[in-house]
Amino acid sequence: MAGVSQDALYAEIDLELSWSEHELPQVERTKHVHKLHPYLGKFIPQLVEVFLERYFAPGACVYDPFVGSGTTLVEANTFGADSVGCDISAFNCLLSRVKVTQYSLGAVELSLRSTLEEARQAGPAPTRDASKWLRRWYSDRSLGELLRYREVAFDRLEDPSLDVAKVILSRAARSARLTTHYDLDFPRRPVRQPYFCHKHKRTCTPVDESAKFLARYTADTVRRIREFSNVRTSSLVEVIHADSQRLDLPIQPHGVITSPPYPGLIDYHEQHRYAYELLGLDDRSDIELGRARRGTSRPALREYVDGMVAVFANASRQLSPGAPVVIVVNDSRGLFPDVLEKAGLRLDQSLTRHVNRRTGRRAGQFFESVLVCNVIGRY
Ligand SMILES: C[S@@+](CC[C@H](N)C(=O)[O-])C[C@H]1O[C@@H](n2cnc3c(N)ncnc32)[C@H](O)[C@@H]1O
Repeated sequence: MAGVSQDALYAEIDLELSWSEHELPQVERTKHVHKLHPYLGKFIPQLVEVFLERYFAPGACVYDPFVGSGTTLVEANTFGADSVGCDISAFNCLLSRVKVTQYSLGAVELSLRSTLEEARQAGPAPTRDASKWLRRWYSDRSLGELLRYREVAFDRLEDPSLDVAKVILSRAARSARLTTHYDLDFPRRPVRQPYFCHKHKRTCTPVDESAKFLARYTADTVRRIREFSNVRTSSLVEVIHADSQRLDLPIQPHGVITSPPYPGLIDYHEQHRYAYELLGLDDRSDIELGRARRGTSRPALREYVDGMVAVFANASRQLSPGAPVVIVVNDSRGLFPDVLEKAGLRLDQSLTRHVNRRTGRRAGQFFESVLVCNVIGRY
């Protein structure tokens, strides 16, 4: 970046990438399938919309090596671009796939509603054989209802309806955990007694059933999938459960839009632990980059940088020279200049965006960077 100082680059706040609550209310940020299941650490769809408009054309193919809950894929599809997403978390891949699959809507709705009804009629299943973790985090009745729904869904459904049922089950399981209303993101220990709720400013009681969540989320999921079907295109979408440090892509993408994990902040497998427990998903947290439980010690940061270099070098090697690579990152430790250089990427622009966080304990002034890079050459 000859002639442009880091200060000049970092001085920019890109107003097109920063929205107030009034300009972009939560209902817009969580439109249609973007809210099929809560997910901590996603970027907002409107950000991806701007990147697609600026750096891609309809018909292109976009790659996201940290696909998470699938925001890039959903937006690429409505934009008319093909997309490939990779994630090491099996649950995130399931969630992304459920968002982008093209369904036969009437059939899916019918089979989900009959699953719900059959599970309701059968009543809670026995819980004695469930894992220790499940028995610790749910009341007996809640867990029994989740297990019954799982049994009926696995018995009667086939993909793609079964995948949708797995997401509904997971979302209900998240809501039915024995935790407080104000601690759904990071519950530390099960709460079995009434407690003073900081969110509602009154005494609240832990949840004792899952059936109402299963019913509510079945209706909500069907509605959201229908809404997305009105705006989706027939562009191709592929979700791959793999380590993006090593993935050989099935096609050559035109560029990347992604947001990597930040070191020591979020455990992406752990935040959906209930889904791993209930669905028996493959847990590959040992190769999840930046895990919170690895901390931010020097060796952990070195490992993080090596991992980021591996992911972006692997992507660069499969892109054409000059291809755009857009990275949304909170690089408070200044690790990315090194990552980009080692991965064969040239920084063209570093934009700063203000992040509007309206919810509870993680609120406050928060900025993140958008690093707009180009692939230098064959790497
Ligand atoms: C910040 S999140 C991405 C969120 C995404 N932009 C969204 O809107 O949902 C980072 C993701 O990187 C994934 N990840 C961590 N290590 C990985 C690896 N080695 N290979 C692929 N994905 C990985 C995590 O599982 C997590 O889903």
